Amino acid sequence: MGQKKLIKFAAIKAYENVLEFPQDMQGKWAAFFDALDKDTKAIDIAKLSISDNLVGSTVSSDNNNEYLLTKLTLELACGRGEYAVGLGRMFPEQHFIGIDLKGNRIWKGASIANKDGLKNVAFVRSQIELTSNYFAKNEVDEIWITFPDPQLRWSKAKKRLTHPKFLRLYQQFLKKGSGKDSDVHSGIVHLKTDSPLLYNFTLKVIELYGLNLIYKTDHLYAEQNIDPRCLIKTYYEGLDIAQSNKIHYIQFNIDKALPLELDEVLKEAIKDIPMDAGELIRMEAEAARAKKED
Ligand SMILES: C[S@@+](CC[C@H](N)C(=O)[O-])C[C@H]1O[C@@H](n2cnc3c(N)ncnc32)[C@H](O)[C@@H]1O
Repeated sequence: MGQKKLIKFAAIKAYENVLEFPQDMQGKWAAFFDALDKDTKAIDIAKLSISDNLVGSTVSSDNNNEYLLTKLTLELACGRGEYAVGLGRMFPEQHFIGIDLKGNRIWKGASIANKDGLKNVAFVRSQIELTSNYFAKNEVDEIWITFPDPQLRWSKAKKRLTHPKFLRLYQQFLKKGSGKDSDVHSGIVHLKTDSPLLYNFTLKVIELYGLNLIYKTDHLYAEQNIDPRCLIKTYYEGLDIAQSNKIHYIQFNIDKALPLELDEVLKEAIKDIPMDAGELIRMEAEAARAKKED
């Protein structure tokens, strides 16, 4: 392993804003961010208190809708964490956690957050598959999935981060709505990708499982009104691997149960989704990058 990577791995071990495969963090993120904000050194997870009001930490408005006081947002497959950091700057009162397995990438975002004093931004080094160990029921309000590997081969479809297998995982900690507005107020998932295949796959999942689609566009930057959060650019967005220059974006709720029986139907239904020339360019470029990194 290169010397630079080793230095970065050592650095994040000493950072208060990076947790590697943390144990016993469920329900403790509000307390963790409070400790981070107070510049606590060597934060002791065992001593952090568990929020007992994950659902109750709301205020009611006139029309009986509920609004959350402190939101917690995750950036999954965050790489260098441009979204965790960018959103952290935009919304200083909210909390953001970037999650990725690669410590040398996380190092970048965590270093920026430290340098700029962003006490509302943290990182977890872990596999996404383990996220339900880190968050309690209803603890997370929103998830951003930014330019994940589209896993283009059918045989790899289960590795796509919007496959129902992953959505079932997110459902375990994403905030649930209540009452008649449950669709509107349940946790939100955002997918930003340059892969038409992943975009169409995710729309198919939403349709098949009857999930609530909030917004979709297959050409984000051509839209009249762009959500300012969508203007944050990530490293992989800049690479434009598929040379498409077209960014796709979906916002949805995982507001229904996801029956396992439908996974077989999905498996068949996605065989129709075409792979365009850009995806083939990406496959080759990704293979070359992976070889270089090894
Ligand atoms: C294509 S990069 C995108 C990074 C970043 N979001 C961006 O747009 O620049 C995909 C990232 O997902 C991470 N990743 C892929 N599968 C993962 C998993 N199962 N658990 C944790 N991280 C994963 C990789 O380490 C990599 O950093």
